[in-house]
Amino acid sequence: MAIRNIRKKGDPILKLKSRPVERFDERFLTLLDDMRETMYHADGCGLAAVQVGVLKRAVVIDVGDGLIELINPEIVEKRGEQLEAEGCLSLPGEQGITLRPQYVKVRAQDRTGTVREWEGENLLARAMCHEIDHLDGILYTQRLAPKEALERFQKEHPEMER
Ligand code: NI
Repeated sequence: MAIRNIRKKGDPILKLKSRPVERFDERFLTLLDDMRETMYHADGCGLAAVQVGVLKRAVVIDVGDGLIELINPEIVEKRGEQLEAEGCLSLPGEQGITLRPQYVKVRAQDRTGTVREWEGENLLARAMCHEIDHLDGILYTQRLAPKEALERFQKEHPEMER
């Protein structure tokens, strides 16, 4: 296992679309292991393969409840809304408030190639959306909540002071 270099803002690879994973071979499993190691080393809660320079549709996530590996992931269901500050290992030191679903269901393959479904709420839902966006070359800075959304959300959730 090895810690790989995380591509940072301005690196054009971050805007590219990743390709589906077809071979679950040794080389790919090593990539997944390295991604996990790199994420933990950087103290992040998610990392997409493109962030270590590999255009494959694979992400690792750990929001504190254990490691999740999603290969060729697709969001198949989403509900609700959440507005929270979000950051990215490729944009160190920056944060922005994004509008994300409160719940998502994701269909993906695990490291054995088996198709499974994962459900996530709150932070996990946000991490899943953020990482899956990376696979389409989208950064959270393209998901910043517009002023109207912030105002509407505050009206609908008066208990949340921001
Ligand atoms: Ni990110």
